[in-house]
Parts: sequence; structure tokens; C-alpha cells
Amino acid sequence: MNDMSMGALNDVAPAQNTEGQATEAKAPIVSATHNVETVLWVKHWTDQYFSFGITRPASFRFRSGEFVMIGLPGEAKEDGTQGKPILRAYSIASPSYAEELEFFSIKVADGPLTSRLQKIQPGDQILMAKKPVGTLVLDALLPGKRLFLLGTGTGLAPWLSVARDPDVYDAFEKVIVAHCVREVRDLAYREMFEHDLPNDELFGELAREQLSYLPTVTREPFTRQGRITDLIQSGRLFADAGLSQIKFDPAEDRIMLCGSMAMIKDVAHMLEAQGLKEGSNSEPGDFVLERAFVG
Ligand code: A2P
Repeated sequence: MNDMSMGALNDVAPAQNTEGQATEAKAPIVSATHNVETVLWVKHWTDQYFSFGITRPASFRFRSGEFVMIGLPGEAKEDGTQGKPILRAYSIASPSYAEELEFFSIKVADGPLTSRLQKIQPGDQILMAKKPVGTLVLDALLPGKRLFLLGTGTGLAPWLSVARDPDVYDAFEKVIVAHCVREVRDLAYREMFEHDLPNDELFGELAREQLSYLPTVTREPFTRQGRITDLIQSGRLFADAGLSQIKFDPAEDRIMLCGSMAMIKDVAHMLEAQGLKEGSNSEPGDFVLERAFVG
């Protein structure tokens, strides 16, 4: 990609520990084109998924639901030259008012970025583009009553931002988050939705009254089973959110989709067949979509 940083590792000698053995010191990253941010925490959910938080530069503003390119400098090649930085689009999982930036990532064993990114630790540095972008934002939707946030796998990431933004609860009477994964253990953030948000001192009332979290699993028994497409078709998506409707209402329902390409395509077709129109920042509509970028 052309907008990649020319960041390069400085040539720093390994530090010595007290026994005089060399420890692996990580050289500071330098970039003329990207922000260089520090990893604050890392949480490994499974061998497939992890989350991490990084510092947020004061100048970095974003709308809840947007994504940003993040990555690592290229590795040194055999001829001693520096490889190109590797950057990928990541939905920002923290809400726009948060002091730090949070990301939810898949681990791809041979993925050029995530094979390395999954090893990051607090104190490490990563590259981040200076500007966020994206269509999974309130601005790309027409006004409505109910907001459905439908995601598979790491496609939950933008909903972690949107569903923690109080403005969203001003704009919509009801917010429904559906997260579809293969196995129960893949339901990252389940505890946050089921326990932390409803009990949050500031956010609890909004969450209890207006937010429905509907986790669903496709490859093992669970209280809710089946793909998001199945839940829409059977009407269970609406019933489980406490709604009396059995399909989407183009006048009142707004939908955001994020996750696997196949899911997005299938749901988008269903929405179009029910009379809903795709929106964008320049022309707001009834639903918006973005694939989960990495993985
Ligand atoms: P399934 O297990 O039936 O394939 P992945 O881990 O491959 O990213 O998938 C995440 C979740 O998305 C899985 O539960 C998977 O269901 C589901 N999924 C995959 N393709 C579709 C689709 N076309 N429509 C709806 N859900 C899908």
C-alpha cells in the first residue's frame, strides 16, 4: 500500500541485565508518516482472538464505529535492509470519548501482521495512521427507532465502540447487538455486555433499558444457536430483543453489518429484499456495512 509508513527501527545495542547477559531490547520505532503509539495492555481470549489497548494521541479524533490502519514496521531482510511496514485496517473498539484506543483482533498463524501482532506486550510500540475512516457511523444512517448491530467474529469490534457511546442511545430507542461465532469460548466481551455494562455506574441505566445483547453460536450447543441470517429469517432476532415485529421495518429499523464477507452479502441481500437501502457518509441510508478487515 502506498500510504504505508517509512518507519524504521533504530540501530540500538541490546541492553545488559544485572548478570551481564544481553536482553532483547526493543528499539524505538520512528515514523515520519504515522503516529507511534504504546501498547498499554493485551488480553488473549483464545488461540484465535485477542484484544489490546494503546495510547491515544491528543490530536486523534474519531467517530464511534470508525476504523484506522495500524501495524508494525517491516522486519529486517536478509540483505540487511528494512522491510516495508505492514499495516491493516482495524475497527476502533473503544468509544470516541475514551482516553485510550482499543482493538479486537483475530490471530492468523501465517498472517503477515497478526502472526507478529499477537505477540505484542505492554510497553511495545505500534504504528497507527493519523486519520480514521469508515461507514459504520451514525452519520451514514437515516434517523430511526431501533439500531441493529450485527457482527460475526471480530466484526463485533465496531459495536464495542458504537454500543458504548451515549449519543447512540439518544439517537435510538433500542440498540441490539448480535454476535455470531463458532464456539461459546469465541464470545469475547460476553462478560462486558452481560455484566459490566448493565452494572456500570454511569452507563448502567442506558444499557439496562435500551441495550439487548444476543450472542449466538453455530458449532456447538448454546442457549442461542444459528447464524444471524437464520435468526433474521426465523424472527428470533426480534423476539429475543423483546420486539413484537417479525421482520425489519424500513421506516424505523437501521442496521450495521460487520464480519465475514459471506455474512455481509447474505444479510445485505435480505435487507434489500425487505426494502432497506445501503447508506454512506455522503448519502445516509437504512443500513451500512464493512467487512472485518483482518482475518
Ligand atoms: P458457521 O459456523 O455456520 O460457518 P468465521 O469464524 O468463519 O469467521 O465465522 C464466524 C461466524 O459467522 C460463524 O458462526 C459462521 O457460521 C458465521 N457465518 C459464516 N458465513 C455466514 C453467512 N454467510 N451468513 C451468516 N453467518 C455466517
